[in-house]
Amino acid sequence: MSTKAARAVALPGQMQTAEPSAAESELSRTEFERVRKLIYARAGISLGPAKHSMVFSRLMRRLRALGMSDFKHYLDMLESEPANGNEWQEFVNALTTNLTSFFREQHHFPILAEFAARQAAQGPVRIWCSAASTGEEPYSLAITMLETFRGKTPPVSILATDIDTSVLAKAARGVYSDEGVARLDPGLLKRYFLRGRGDNAGYVTVRPEVRELVTFQPLNLLAPRWPFRTRFHAIFCRNVMIYFDKSTQNGVLRKLAEWLEPDGLLFAGHSENFGHARDLFEFQGRTVYRLAPPSPTAARMA
Ligand SMILES: C[S@@+](CC[C@H](N)C(=O)[O-])C[C@H]1O[C@@H](n2cnc3c(N)ncnc32)[C@H](O)[C@@H]1O
Repeated sequence: MSTKAARAVALPGQMQTAEPSAAESELSRTEFERVRKLIYARAGISLGPAKHSMVFSRLMRRLRALGMSDFKHYLDMLESEPANGNEWQEFVNALTTNLTSFFREQHHFPILAEFAARQAAQGPVRIWCSAASTGEEPYSLAITMLETFRGKTPPVSILATDIDTSVLAKAARGVYSDEGVARLDPGLLKRYFLRGRGDNAGYVTVRPEVRELVTFQPLNLLAPRWPFRTRFHAIFCRNVMIYFDKSTQNGVLRKLAEWLEPDGLLFAGHSENFGHARDLFEFQGRTVYRLAPPSPTAARMA
């Protein structure tokens, strides 16, 4: 279940939120267009017309939290806030889709394991998980590294970023429901998670050695500058480009290419295809890319 959907479900003992009244339930086409423009400019997310009711229900929760009943006033208030205002962050958090799971697109993990084992001969391996959501992906990377370098601390650092600060806070806690880890290999579950007891029954927590490999930090892929000092050997940018149009994807890919080591790997999501950026990335199969060799003209000019 997506985090946003989970948030909508009231826990036992919690008050059920009332259904919106007829007056409340209006998100006019003009307001929907405003939302589309704002989230596109801010996060690069392209919302198609079919997302009208999703936008309505996600933002309705913000209106309720603020005691407002009118989308126009909400959007006026949002636009009058400074760019780093809290409601801007809440607005973005509300409109992102955070679906993820442990070892999603499993075929990438053995590729990373083999690559990191080779790379480690030359020094520490830097991995960036650029749309980390609630943490299942970066922790799957960390577990893969612990399995690869069995018995010693992996010479690996994993930076996990996302634009959505609420999912990152959950990720940093490293606590998951039994349901969320139900499909994990039982051996991995036993080795890398602590089972909750008493009040925490029904939950597991990632073990400290897993948690310690990962650093969490908010980052918007659209930000004009990314705050890094060194390039990465592997970049996971999976299932986020699907929310971007081609021109946004190209802008992000250009920057990803700058921050990938010359022989590094870029991992994409199963339905993402960067064939339109052949000047930047060369397809390796299984949604993995390497930097494209410089074109003969560029090489001559260098
Ligand atoms: C569907 S999840 C994918 C999670 C994970 N990468 C996976 O494949 O399971 C997409 C994530 O991208 C994040 N996202 C959307 N727009 C972003 C942006 N402009 N910068 C950084 N992260 C963004 C969302 O907050 C969300 O957590």
